[in-house]
Amino acid sequence: MRKTLTRTWILVCGAAFMCWALTGCVGSQDRKIVRIGHNQSTNHPTHIALTAFQDFINEKLGDRYVVEVYPSELLGSQTDMVQLTQTGAIDFCVASNAILETFSKNYEIFNLPYLFASTEAYHHVMDDAAVTGPIFDSTVKAGFTAVTWLDAGTRNFYTLNRPIESPADLKGLKIRVQQSPTNIEMMRLLGGSATPMGFGEVYTALQSGIIDGAENNEMALTDNGHGDVCKYYSYDMHQMVPDILIGNNAFMEGLSEEERAIFEEGFQIVNQVEREEWIKAVEGAKERSAREQQVNFIYPDQKPFVEACLPLHDKVLSNNTALQPIYDAIQVYNQLYPAAAE
Ligand code: GCU
Repeated sequence: MRKTLTRTWILVCGAAFMCWALTGCVGSQDRKIVRIGHNQSTNHPTHIALTAFQDFINEKLGDRYVVEVYPSELLGSQTDMVQLTQTGAIDFCVASNAILETFSKNYEIFNLPYLFASTEAYHHVMDDAAVTGPIFDSTVKAGFTAVTWLDAGTRNFYTLNRPIESPADLKGLKIRVQQSPTNIEMMRLLGGSATPMGFGEVYTALQSGIIDGAENNEMALTDNGHGDVCKYYSYDMHQMVPDILIGNNAFMEGLSEEERAIFEEGFQIVNQVEREEWIKAVEGAKERSAREQQVNFIYPDQKPFVEACLPLHDKVLSNNTALQPIYDAIQVYNQLYPAAAE
């Protein structure tokens, strides 16, 4: 009898311990799960930054919230995840600025090729709330708001087997672009054939020869394996397109003032951690793709690429005159932080 009681007691204690270990604390059923989706691997700076956010919120508000991070398109493509964030099915996701222009035209501005004179100008613009505010808040009616930005480096062309030395080399090539009208127009101006598709489909499309190349930062070569099939990466430096962390409005409005302040601090952690990790990740990706994947890096004259793309600035600005003051503010940063002399 005594033995049975002891065993029962051990079982009860064991179950309670398991429950505590799995949920983190007693009363966990009252905690709200905060779901964040993104499309990168768990090695990527985006994931590392969101994990830092998760740790911070769990430490500060762990009695009320449990943050869960879903990488690798587990919750769908970026467009799917933005829609899930709109409806509140999830609370946050990371989306490229490129695809956000289909939710608000204001986002077109950061998709313009050769918009920023240098990385420093780009970073200062993105850190200036007076510049980003009218863009980040422009989706409030659509159900979500941008809460911070993440560095996604510089986008360049890479191809299976034709080195891109000038825009003329893009002629006749099917190049994957993000699903954004600005990117499609950019490819038309450069003479290539734009093939829009989601990020997760690009590797198979390259491998099967459905497309001849793509354009992205160096991480796509290693982290997404594109350098296994594409052997030429050409530094034409056509865009610096940020990634944006967006949050569901209803979730954000439901936070108390104290909670909101902690979440805001958390968003800054995402930004800072990602930027620090980004520098290391890009250096590592470039080195690994040259050494392990035998990718050839090409440094073409950028001038003909710039000249071909510039008409797009006027086109976007004349279609959306509200962007002109933002564009002008960007030019001030471009003058303060010009391109490094060659
Ligand atoms: C980069 C960017 C992603 C984006 C991807 C793409 O990796 O960080 O947000 O989805 O490019 O080209 O689709």
